Amino acid sequence: MIGTELWWKSGVIYQVYPRSFKDSNDDGVGDLAGITQQLDYLRWLGVDALWLSPIYPSPMADFGYDISNYTDVHPLFGTLHDLDSLVQQAHQRDLKVILDFVPNHTSDEHPWFQQSRGSRANEKRDWYLWRDPAPGGGAPNNWTSNFGGSAWQFDEQTGQYYLHLFDVKQPDLNWRNPLVRQAMYDVLRFWLERGVDGFRVDVLSMLVKDSQFRDNEMNPLWKPGDASYLRQKRLHTQDLPEIHEIVREMREALDRYSERVLIGEIYLPVARLMRYYGQNLDEAHLPFNFQLVTMPTWEARAIRGMVDEYEAALPAGAWPNWVLGNHDRPRIASRVGREQARLAQMLLLTLRGTPTCYYGEEIGMQDVPVPLEQMCDPQGKENPQHSRDPQRTPMQWNASANAGFCRPEVRPWLPLSDDYQRFNVASEQQDPRSMLVLTRALLQQRRTLAALTIGAYRSVEQDNPACFVYERQYDDQRCLVALNFSENDQVVKLPGYSSGRILLSTYMDAGGSALDVAELSLRGNEGVLLEMRSL
Ligand code: NOJ
Repeated sequence: MIGTELWWKSGVIYQVYPRSFKDSNDDGVGDLAGITQQLDYLRWLGVDALWLSPIYPSPMADFGYDISNYTDVHPLFGTLHDLDSLVQQAHQRDLKVILDFVPNHTSDEHPWFQQSRGSRANEKRDWYLWRDPAPGGGAPNNWTSNFGGSAWQFDEQTGQYYLHLFDVKQPDLNWRNPLVRQAMYDVLRFWLERGVDGFRVDVLSMLVKDSQFRDNEMNPLWKPGDASYLRQKRLHTQDLPEIHEIVREMREALDRYSERVLIGEIYLPVARLMRYYGQNLDEAHLPFNFQLVTMPTWEARAIRGMVDEYEAALPAGAWPNWVLGNHDRPRIASRVGREQARLAQMLLLTLRGTPTCYYGEEIGMQDVPVPLEQMCDPQGKENPQHSRDPQRTPMQWNASANAGFCRPEVRPWLPLSDDYQRFNVASEQQDPRSMLVLTRALLQQRRTLAALTIGAYRSVEQDNPACFVYERQYDDQRCLVALNFSENDQVVKLPGYSSGRILLSTYMDAGGSALDVAELSLRGNEGVLLEMRSL
């Protein structure tokens, strides 16, 4: 039953963006002690694990995804001792802690790169990807950075270019070099020994590049203004066959410890994504499934088709997972609106598989417009339309000045939303119909009903194109989820079903009532969770 399942299968993950969660030392930037202060809130909410975006020393060119020391904590966030204390206090509350592991690139200020760029003969030269200029001069090939422009940077001192698939201050490591691999697996062991429960691995599918450095094909559909990462078909910089051996090695490192989880950040079509579970389920436990993030439409039939396709594609024994948003993508409540965000939350928390919630989703936080002069994100500097600052703004804890993120007299590193006085944890805790109370109720149902936690999934055939209906079942427990993706009232005909009991409506007003499900009425934007009595 539920209690015997592995925690990362039955549990729910909550992503914390440490800079924006809670500032405990009055510098306008969130920190580890701040996160520790909020562990009771996370427990109250009902999640099971926190994933922390990078907390390591970093010049912050990409807000921590440019690491200059993998085995320490940035003073902005605190100390190693603070991290140990966070892990310990989380464990005391039965919360797991997942760290971000960023193996594709270091900071250019990492001592490895400093040595590597020192001379062509340096022993660390081959730890990065250095190439001569193209014949006739210029970059060695046409590869572009995900943040825009060429992925190659010329280094005067040694007359070669180095590769950076992201910012110029994020040189790519050479994963074909066994010493790089060993050094990075040592990093994993360092944190595993300190008791962390797993890793989310940054851009996992990009670690290995074409050994011949052949040009990538340009994406003919790309036009100026589109995100830079869509500019090329990344045939030679992503998802090369050699990557799988590396993922297996990472997994081996984790498997020496009990119950640790390996999560891969991988944006790939489903068939290719599935390979990251490994042929013998010996790679990532959870290759992130970003389809609810990347789907161009928010429409019942398309979502049903996508969920069914994903379920069908899963290798035997592989465990699914779902995500609505993260620090790189616009927030769900901005993409689909606050009403549909409630439905999205019901979808996320009732589908089969491990959900990852992004901080603030539970209170319906939306993207916050950030004026150009305050923009920080390197992707935004290249193209303001694609800045990720709006989805990284401070968590809204209460209605006081600075939303309780930092003291009133401190300036937070990014601006607060102008509606935080309404949408914040303290206010929503008082409102029995708030998004926060809905989220908590969904998490509670999910925890109590084995059908939701670990049960089977089956989508239900019905005629109403505005609605998506599915069943979750475990032993004789059967739950039905019916979601209305339109703003109008809808009726769903379910002849195969008779009576059921509403456990939860996204309107938070309908719990407990028994009803005949054969013709189920849904209000606009409504989702309901039902427990079924009989066929
Ligand atoms: C993916 C991370 O989520 C993103 O924030 C970062 O900019 C890139 N990888 C580079 O590390």
